[in-house]
Amino acid sequence: MKTRLSAKPGCDTLLRFLVSSEAKTLKDFKGKKNEVTVRYEGTDTVIYAGLGDTPSPEAMRGAAGFAVKKAIELKREELAIVEPELPPESAKATALAMVEGALLASYSFGQHKAEKPHQIKAMHIVSSSLSKANLAQAEAICAGVFAARDLVNGNAEDVNPLTLAAWAKDLAKSNPVLSCIVLTEKEIAKQKMGLLLAVGRASSTPPRLICLEYRGKPASKETIALVGKGITFDSGGYNLKPTGSIENMRDDMAGAAAVLGVMKTLAMIKPAINVVAIVPAAHNGLQGDAFFAGDIYRSYSGKTVEIISTDAEGRLVLADAMSYCQKTYKPSTIIDLATLTGSILASFGDLMAGLFSNNDELAAKLFECAQATNEALWIMPMPQAVSDSLKSDLADLRNVSNLPKGHAGAIAGAAFIKEFVEGKTAWAHLDIAGMSYNTRDDKGHTGKYGTGYGVRLLLAYLLTKNAK
Ligand code: BES
Ligand code: ZN
Ligand code: ZN
Repeated sequence: MKTRLSAKPGCDTLLRFLVSSEAKTLKDFKGKKNEVTVRYEGTDTVIYAGLGDTPSPEAMRGAAGFAVKKAIELKREELAIVEPELPPESAKATALAMVEGALLASYSFGQHKAEKPHQIKAMHIVSSSLSKANLAQAEAICAGVFAARDLVNGNAEDVNPLTLAAWAKDLAKSNPVLSCIVLTEKEIAKQKMGLLLAVGRASSTPPRLICLEYRGKPASKETIALVGKGITFDSGGYNLKPTGSIENMRDDMAGAAAVLGVMKTLAMIKPAINVVAIVPAAHNGLQGDAFFAGDIYRSYSGKTVEIISTDAEGRLVLADAMSYCQKTYKPSTIIDLATLTGSILASFGDLMAGLFSNNDELAAKLFECAQATNEALWIMPMPQAVSDSLKSDLADLRNVSNLPKGHAGAIAGAAFIKEFVEGKTAWAHLDIAGMSYNTRDDKGHTGKYGTGYGVRLLLAYLLTKNAK
């Protein structure tokens, strides 16, 4: 799809936005959030979208998303998106949210359909607040989100540890600002990453550790690490998932997809920061050599882990990835993204992710970015009692707490990962199990299935560090 800034609409399908007080001019339209109506004015088709009381960035992103979905329904190929009058102090942010909402809503995944979804071919952005560079940045951000959505939506057959690693290598090949190192199962074994190896060993597509580096500020040693859970399919292993819980488990690499999507965007916009993405990629399968429940495995850090459930595998692969990341890249900050627990889904559904951190400043910054991007999260507590409940009689740790079944599950998952944070490293963990895959209603800019949650949030955070 082509986008361009233009002074005039230049086509006959227009998207316009109205706050509720302006909506009176249109019959049977109240200007409520998410409300869309189509009017035919002369030779033009005008899609009006409501903003509610104020044209906030969040309202604009939502309205633009629903308006574009309407244009797709009408099978329009060319749209003009007209920026409304905006309060000057927030005009740029709001206009950017408008573009973002429109672009995000244009995504579709038609790989397996004979009848391909309708595609919009061009968008004319009629804006007085945005520059070409602003538009290019919004496009780059959305390209990262689309990459993450594509990776999540792809079949587990196709998106496996090997192809995920190849994807990262290809990205680095076509972007010299990136470099990519992939550890094979042999190297993972040689390095004694016993947890990643255990989880990934029952598959004809063996595990990989993907390290993708972006150095935008070579003079600085400061590196931020993004770690993404890359379970390309989670069968549960011997603790096999039942029908009803297993069908969407190709989504269990959504953390990996998000951090790889972020790297794609960084390569496009080239900010002056250093970022490394680490993806422990594995298929939690169930072949003859699956790792055993009840057995004890040794992590890369040296800590041993008693496997209470082979289905609590995300924390295992993340543990090894975190240790390797700290040893190799010495990051000041690590943010991990993981579809870690059903428990976070029970807490927040698809309304927000859970954020766990050892650093209040980092948590507060991520919270702010979540509000700005409307990728909602909530800061969760990490009580010592939950960490204590991970002690094992036989090993250093157990991978599931000894609290009553169903108690504090998301906190226990986070507490397990925290055991692998070293020294003063600032760390935050985002449990995105409820946010990464949308099987409910189309939300305009965030449609069904892979959502790409986290890409925009992480980029917002990283770009606050851009000191160019
Ligand atoms: N991948 C799942 C978590 C998940 C659940 C992601 C629903 C997306 C939607 C994870 O590996 C898992 O199975 N977690 C278990 C942990 C339990 C065994 C302690 C869970 O949450 O039930
Ligand atoms: Zn699992
Ligand atoms: Zn999992």
